[in-house]
Amino acid sequence: MKIEIVESYPTLSSRAAQIIAAAVEAKPTLVLGLPTGSTPVGLYEELVREHRAGRLALDRVTTFNLDEYVGLGPDHPDSYASFMRAHLFAHVNVTPDRTHIPNGVAEDPAQECERYEALIQQVGRLDLVVLGVGTNGHLGFNEPAAALHVRTHVAALSRETLATNFARVAALSPDTPLPPDVPRRALTMGIGTILQARRLLLLASGRPKAPVVAAMLRPTVTTQLPASLLHLHRDVTVLLDSGAAAEL
Ligand code: GLP
Repeated sequence: MKIEIVESYPTLSSRAAQIIAAAVEAKPTLVLGLPTGSTPVGLYEELVREHRAGRLALDRVTTFNLDEYVGLGPDHPDSYASFMRAHLFAHVNVTPDRTHIPNGVAEDPAQECERYEALIQQVGRLDLVVLGVGTNGHLGFNEPAAALHVRTHVAALSRETLATNFARVAALSPDTPLPPDVPRRALTMGIGTILQARRLLLLASGRPKAPVVAAMLRPTVTTQLPASLLHLHRDVTVLLDSGAAAEL
C-alpha cells in the first residue's frame, strides 16, 4: 500500500482530483468507481472546478457508484443518486447513460444486484475505484462480519453506520427503534468487485477516522475490518490528511 499524508482536507481533495484527472488524461474512456459520504465532497468540488476550467473532460468516462440505499429512488433527497447529481454529475460533462448507480427501488433488489454486477463485468475491470472508509472499517456497505460477500449484494446496515449517515438516527438513544423512513438495507458492490479493480484510491479525512485508519494499516487482514482486505491488492493508494493519520 502506498500511503500519502497531506496536511489538510482541501489538499487531500485537490490531490485526489489530480490523481483522477491524470488517470482520465491517460485513458479518456476510464471506468471509475465512485463513493459517496462527506469525504469525497471536496474531491467532487475540485473535479467540477477542473472541468469548468476546461482541464477535465468526462464525456467518455464510465462511472459505477459503490452503493445505494434500498427503498430510496433517484429523486429521494437521501439517495446516493441525488447526492451524485448534486455534487458532481449535474456540473460536469458526464454522459448520462455511462453513469451507473444501483437502483434502490428495483422491484427485486437481489436481481438488481445481479444486473449491476453483470454490467460491471461487461465493461471489464474497473480501472480506478475511489473509496471512503466507515468508522467501523466498512467499504461501500460491506460491513464487518464473519464472512463477506464477494459480489454486488443486498447488505443489512449496522446501527453504527445508520447513526453516522443519518443525523436523525444519531439523535436517538441506541435502544429506540429506528424511524420507518430510515433505510435498513443497501445495494453494494462486493469486496471482490472492489478488489478486482486495477487500482484503488482510499480517502480518509479527520481525527474521527484516525483509529480505523491505524487499524486497517496494520499488516493483518480480517473480514471484521473490511478495509484491511485492501492489503491483498497490489495497487492501492491511501490518501490521508493529518487528522486521519494522527494515530499512525
Ligand atoms: C457510507 C458509504 C461509504 C463511505 C462511508 C464513509 O456509509 N456507503 O461508501 O465510505 O459512508 O462516509 P464519510 O465519508 O461520510 O465518512
